[in-house]
Amino acid sequence: MIVSSLAVTSEVMAPIRPSGEEIGLIFVPGAQIKGEAYRKTARAIQDASAERVWVALTGNYTASTPNPLEIKGAVLGAIDALKAAGMKSTNYVGVAHSLGGVFLAPYAEDSPLKAVVLLGAYLNRSTKLADYPKPVLTLSGELDGQTRITRIAVDYEQLMQVAEKNSTSIFRTPVINIKGSCHAQFASGPMPPEVKKYDLTPAISDLEAHAFIGRYVSSFLAVTFSKVPEMKEEAQRDLNFYFKESGKRFLPLLGVKALDVKGTVSPWAQICQAQLAGKFVARTTINNKILQGFSFLESKPSIEKLGMGAIINTTSLVEYEKNPLDVSLNKESPKEIDVKMKSKDAIKKVLNVTLPEFLQAIEVLKLDKEKNITCKDLNQLAYQLALKNSTTEAQERYRRHGRLITFKDDLVYGTGFQWASQPLVIEESDKGLTVQGVALVTSMSSTFFPGMHYCKVLSPYRAMEWINVDSLRDHAPNRFHSS
Ligand SMILES: *[C@@H]1O[C@H](CO)[C@@H](O)[C@H](O)[C@H]1NC(C)=O
Ligand SMILES: *[C@@H]1O[C@H](CO)[C@@H](O)[C@H](O)[C@H]1NC(C)=O
Ligand SMILES: *[C@@H]1O[C@H](CO)[C@@H](O)[C@H](O)[C@H]1NC(C)=O
Ligand SMILES: *[C@@H]1O[C@H](CO)[C@@H](O)[C@H](O)[C@H]1NC(C)=O
Ligand SMILES: *[C@@H]1O[C@H](CO)[C@@H](O)[C@H](O)[C@H]1NC(C)=O
Ligand SMILES: *[C@@H]1O[C@H](CO)[C@@H](O)[C@H](O)[C@H]1NC(C)=O
Ligand SMILES: *[C@@H]1O[C@H](CO)[C@@H](O)[C@H](O)[C@H]1NC(C)=O
Repeated sequence: MIVSSLAVTSEVMAPIRPSGEEIGLIFVPGAQIKGEAYRKTARAIQDASAERVWVALTGNYTASTPNPLEIKGAVLGAIDALKAAGMKSTNYVGVAHSLGGVFLAPYAEDSPLKAVVLLGAYLNRSTKLADYPKPVLTLSGELDGQTRITRIAVDYEQLMQVAEKNSTSIFRTPVINIKGSCHAQFASGPMPPEVKKYDLTPAISDLEAHAFIGRYVSSFLAVTFSKVPEMKEEAQRDLNFYFKESGKRFLPLLGVKALDVKGTVSPWAQICQAQLAGKFVARTTINNKILQGFSFLESKPSIEKLGMGAIINTTSLVEYEKNPLDVSLNKESPKEIDVKMKSKDAIKKVLNVTLPEFLQAIEVLKLDKEKNITCKDLNQLAYQLALKNSTTEAQERYRRHGRLITFKDDLVYGTGFQWASQPLVIEESDKGLTVQGVALVTSMSSTFFPGMHYCKVLSPYRAMEWINVDSLRDHAPNRFHSS
């Protein structure tokens, strides 16, 4: 049955169960995707749910794309269509994919919808899950190339923090990751060029992806609407399990993400300084302070003797891509981390370390141990950590068909101004990613600012995002010509 409200229409699918709570799912498609493309997804939810699940697939938006002007009419039209088809209850749930979710979430707050399901979509950054007035399920694909897993990891982290205090948030605002699925698999059939350009190759079939979606959504529906205590409790147990299981993919990412920024400190900047200190690290206390703009530019690292050891104060700038519209195609991780450190020579001097001559001679042979660390070394370290801490599956995928990273020797500058003006080189091409650190090292005899070691380095989380998401496309998206 087709009911029209302005341009937008709905296709209704009747329930497959004779009894249970009546629930009406109102689907809002992604950009350039037909309403009909969600039939199989909707059917998988009906199959998985014990409730009487009705479906209205909205479609035929202007320019085939949901938009703020038509969303209200679309939902109200869908409700009329559901009523006309015989649905009696008012348990309406908005189910929106991708761009559809961007428009549905704000509309749904004050609407007849009682809950929201976001498929490869998310509440914008200014809206906390806990503050959203209605239950909302956020579903993410591990291999979603459009709504990257790292974007949804932010919501998962938020949920973890809230759930620590109030575990029922796992039922009211669950955030679940579907192992092996991609953006297109929230729907089925041919995808628009924009999705083809960015999406990743899934590790599971469409049928499996839809079955997962069916299971996750049906648990959310049962928790939200079921009046049978046993069914509600079972669904709660399931949602708890899905929350934990999703952590297998979100937590490794969040662990490495935490190295970028922790309060006012960049732990990665501290690790970089510790690498420079090498074997003297045990005798140092390394502080760091994240600064912005001019404060960072004018800042200088310092070193002070304290008893047998030294206190090193470093500064850093953690720079992200600008993303005011919270577009999930943008990377989550920082573009670069700039660190102002003290050189190894400066540390040796303060610690008053003079190695016996014969030892020094041996040191020359043991280049690795005594090696003067470069920004390139720090970049390689970031990459190794990111690879090691990715899931086994992600490591295998990356080794099999990820585009690799090439590390070039540092760009070395002589003045702070030149150093500040040159961003970290991080260039993506069809071949892979090229990373080149930017260094400034002053000797101990330098008149100005002796014993400095500045580096612009790769964030380990950026390396991890590359390994887990961006490297897996066959082409650099900006060069890919879709037909
Ligand atoms: C979109 O419009 C066409 C033509 O009127 C119709 O056949 C189709 O069912 C509509 N799709 C949806 C999802 O309403
Ligand atoms: C963010 O989402 C909230 C809640 O859905 C909405 O009220 C707000 O308008 C949105 N902000 C932007 C910039 O889209
Ligand atoms: C916990 O959160 C739920 C909603 O998820 C709310 O209804 C309940 O009042 C909260 N409990 C406490 C103790 O804050
Ligand atoms: C990397 O993984 C190991 C082993 O799971 C873990 O102990 C460690 O905390 C992780 N490191 C980071 C930075 O997440
Ligand atoms: C280093 O930082 C600590 C802690 O912020 C501060 O107390 C100390 O004065 C700093 N030392 C120098 C030499 O700036
Ligand atoms: C440095 O160490 C040498 C010998 O190990 C000692 O003679 C000298 O006084 C020390 N200098 C300082 C400033 O502590
Ligand atoms: C490291 O740099 C210092 C000067 O800062 C130099 O004297 C030393 O030979 C270098 N060591 C290696 C292994 O290159």
